[in-house]
Amino acid sequence: MSLSIVIMAAGKGTRMKSSRPKVLHKLAGRPMLSHVIASTSGLQAAQQVVITGHGAEMVEAAMKAEFAQAPLQFVRQEPQLGTGHAVQQAVPVLPDDGITLILNGDTPLIHASTAQALVDACAGDKLALLTIRLDDPTGYGRIVRDETGVKVLAIVEHKDATPEQRAICEVYTGMMAAPTARLKHWLSQLNNDNAQGEYYLTDVVAMAQAEGLSVVAAQPRDEVEVLGVNSPAQLADLERRHQRAQAERLMEQGVRLADPARFDLRGTLQCGQDVDIDVNCIFEGNVVLGDEVQIGANCVIRNATIGRGAVIHPFTHIDGDTLGAHVGEGSLIGPFARLRPGAQLGNEVHIGNFVEVKNSTLGNGAKANHLAYLGDATVGERVNYGAGSITANYDGANKHRTVIGDDVHVGSNCVLVAPVTLGAGVTIGGGSTITKDVPAESLAVARGKQVTLSGWQRPQKIKR
Ligand code: UD1
Ligand code: CA
Repeated sequence: MSLSIVIMAAGKGTRMKSSRPKVLHKLAGRPMLSHVIASTSGLQAAQQVVITGHGAEMVEAAMKAEFAQAPLQFVRQEPQLGTGHAVQQAVPVLPDDGITLILNGDTPLIHASTAQALVDACAGDKLALLTIRLDDPTGYGRIVRDETGVKVLAIVEHKDATPEQRAICEVYTGMMAAPTARLKHWLSQLNNDNAQGEYYLTDVVAMAQAEGLSVVAAQPRDEVEVLGVNSPAQLADLERRHQRAQAERLMEQGVRLADPARFDLRGTLQCGQDVDIDVNCIFEGNVVLGDEVQIGANCVIRNATIGRGAVIHPFTHIDGDTLGAHVGEGSLIGPFARLRPGAQLGNEVHIGNFVEVKNSTLGNGAKANHLAYLGDATVGERVNYGAGSITANYDGANKHRTVIGDDVHVGSNCVLVAPVTLGAGVTIGGGSTITKDVPAESLAVARGKQVTLSGWQRPQKIKR
């Protein structure tokens, strides 16, 4: 049976007090709406329809950029007259049969299996609601059941509920699955005769019930899946819960987190055995840590792979961006090191404090321990790159490469003006500015010769 997914994302999100549309606010580094689209894109739906309204251009552009492959459909809701009105806008693009799954763009942690369970519960001939019991149901639509407690009769919005109904703890989460043909029919009969003057999607429940269609309720595995975000405080709370859950999954795999409350993963993190991660680290994009990797406190690592046994000392920033970054086995990086896109380090490489590496390959055993820059360079094995030395890779218009052969020793405070090649075994005297290629096994020194005047008298202050 064909499945259509409708995601409501037109609301203003007034309580966010932001110029950014609510569904674009980020959870774990990604817009809330993206989470919903991503987790339901595995459901084999025939279509995914996003209802936009407030900030529609921005929302649509962001989603088109992120989900270039997935054929998302956008339907505008102007003005926003309630959740029922929102889904009404999608009616022209929905088929006449199959199942429609309705989700909220501001409830980011819905799990694919829960969405699938809701579709299965609908089975094409029932109205399936995702419900949950809350200790404090304030603000939510209440699930009103018959006296046996089996049959769902209606959803009553908090503002329209009687005191008895407000005592009900089972609430509607905002997600439902319905037979598309029936849904279209019910939507055409909605009115806005209620406390908020809105077209409530939730009114379809009483209509289904009146038609004798069974209304069934399914529950999520975890409360966090159905928590919506209306304010910065709720967003921060959901972020922490999500991070805690991710941290626990990693610890179950054996990863040692110094403090799961001070750990942030905004993407995917794959870890080998015996990985240690100290406090306040942030992992973004796709990061892979090999066996026995140690990550010091306050590191930020994005789109990178770290080889077995490497140690990343505190305050190191590694950002592979689209090119990636790789740290070889047994390497020592930081503290205060910066690896940028295209940094490809071999095994046993040492990168020390205030060293920046960009778009450069370093052979096994190469070392740059202090205050240095390697950009657009190919560095051989066992090279020692002195403190304060830099590759001058940019001439103001173009970038050029520096090639440094195996076993080269570059002294301190050198400038290698690219394009330039240092042959294997070359030694560069400290303070040199190298503009010409240096053949293998030679010494190059390019600086003013030292002048020493013995018995030199400094000028004296004139006395009057
Ligand atoms: C809705 C439900 C309530 C449920 C709660 C769960 C209705 C009438 N009520 O209430 O039973 O307990 O969700 O969170 O459905 N939206 C639009 N267009 C609109 C209005 C809303 O796209 O005109 C979108 C919002 O962007 C949001 C979602 O629909 O993603 C829910 O809207 P919201 O106003 O938060 O609904 P609630 O009043 O919380
Ligand atoms: Ca809401």
